[in-house]
Amino acid sequence: SPECKLQLVRDHIRPYQDFPKKGILFRDICPILKYPAALTAVIDLFEEEVRRNYQTVDLIVGLDARGFLFGPLLAQRLGVGFVLVRKKGKLPGTTLSVEYNLEYGKAEVEIQEDAVAPGQKVLLIDDLLATGGTLFAACELMKKQQAEVLGCMVVIELKELNGKDKLKPQSIFSLVQY
Ligand code: PRP
Ligand code: ADE
Ligand code: MG
Repeated sequence: SPECKLQLVRDHIRPYQDFPKKGILFRDICPILKYPAALTAVIDLFEEEVRRNYQTVDLIVGLDARGFLFGPLLAQRLGVGFVLVRKKGKLPGTTLSVEYNLEYGKAEVEIQEDAVAPGQKVLLIDDLLATGGTLFAACELMKKQQAEVLGCMVVIELKELNGKDKLKPQSIFSLVQY
């Protein structure tokens, strides 16, 4: 059942105090990847949510690095392509880029200029929503590509950081909230 699957996901998120900096409670998703049933549960729950809400999805767009762990699996389930949003300097060819801040630093993300065609319907996927800076930057990239963002999907949402507000009016789907 969905409740059992959610419990399996919850049980495979491991907290680390003061990583990577003092004051940060890091929510590690590595155990999910290590336990096939937990990973299957994540993808099942994402797939059910997509099928419930969207008739057409053209592409899954995943965020470097931890969005890459879940995005391609979901894309395969849905029978659609997967596109990479990468940290600066990793993608060949002409790229578009956007700078952003995150809970513990600053970064810049890029996408290949022809990765998404104007009007394509995309879902953004990452492991975790904190301040929303990363997903916001990805949404900016999607704007530059004139893509239609259907919504954002994450395994974990850290509620107290108000990432959802930053991303308004985008719809955010998360499996586990803290
Ligand atoms: C982490 C996490 C999210 C982001 C969330 O990525 O995987 O992508 O932070 O934070 P935000 O909502 O405040 O932007 P990080 O850049 O630390 O590294 P990684 O994914 O490459 O491991
Ligand atoms: N990315 C941003 N904040 C994080 C946190 N608290 N745990 C894991 N990844 C994060
Ligand atoms: Mg990340």
